[in-house]
Amino acid sequence: MDFKGANILSTRQFEKADIERVIEVAEELEPIAKKEQTSDLMKGKVLASLFYEASTRTRLSTETAMKRLGGEVITVIGEEYSSLKKGETLDDTGRIISCYADVMAMRHSEEGAVDKFADGATVPVINCGDGPGQHPTQALLDIFTIKKELGKLDGLTVAMSGDLKFGRTVHSLVYLLRHFDMKLVFIAPDQLKMPENIIKDLKNDGVEVEETADFTEGVKKADFFYATRVQQERFEDPSEYEKLKDVYVLTKKFVEDNNPDLVISHPLPRVGEITKDVDELKGAAYFRAAANGVAVRMALIALVTGVTGVLGVK
Ligand code: NCD
Repeated sequence: MDFKGANILSTRQFEKADIERVIEVAEELEPIAKKEQTSDLMKGKVLASLFYEASTRTRLSTETAMKRLGGEVITVIGEEYSSLKKGETLDDTGRIISCYADVMAMRHSEEGAVDKFADGATVPVINCGDGPGQHPTQALLDIFTIKKELGKLDGLTVAMSGDLKFGRTVHSLVYLLRHFDMKLVFIAPDQLKMPENIIKDLKNDGVEVEETADFTEGVKKADFFYATRVQQERFEDPSEYEKLKDVYVLTKKFVEDNNPDLVISHPLPRVGEITKDVDELKGAAYFRAAANGVAVRMALIALVTGVTGVLGVK
């Protein structure tokens, strides 16, 4: 894709070369993300950060990415403080904020809302999560993490467990992983299975997919295991959530007994899917993944605003 001026709305828009480009720029920007170097790559540029749904990591790492590149951030947290509350349409809001910012990052609770916002926008929009839809920046940091942790992206088995029905992180990640020689194992009970249309897309692309409800069998097969939180906020019936919330729990003993070399990640927040003692394992990569989010979001901001090519960044 031509990154300059592009909206980053879905991982479906990424070709293999695009993923490799983001990884390459993120690797170059890592010393800045890790606070080892300073930068003014984005000096004079403004990021509008619009988070209409709960967020800690995504918002703060996106804003940190912009600030550590020397840029400025303007922000709205919560719909109640925006004109959307007064009935303004998303595309009007997109058009207006484009007058103030050079790039915009948005999270919204409705699937497709960020696309509507982007329809009105005249500067690049980065989707930071739209309901159960997509979360492309998370998926890019996840694939960056797989590459860093395992040293490669081909010849791997990746298992995902938990809420594969409502989880936008897994919905996004699989569309990146399909470009590599990977086997995907989806571990979920019937109520939380990966949507049929996504399975179909993957199979059409020739991806080897296995679905199971057997946690032990699934985890045993994996080189990289991705746990997810059951998405309480997407359930209409709270009792259904209560039944499913503790469906799979990864413990240190379980990993040691079944797959001691496993690399383990999670988009976070965890609410019981991974017990605290797992943190002691060398394969526990979820905090490293959260840190990787800064370099990856720096790369996306630099690419869509077209400022790479100066100050040593290729
Ligand atoms: C995820 C999200 O918001 O989709 N969190 C994140 O961005 N790191 C996962 C979740 O909330 O379960």
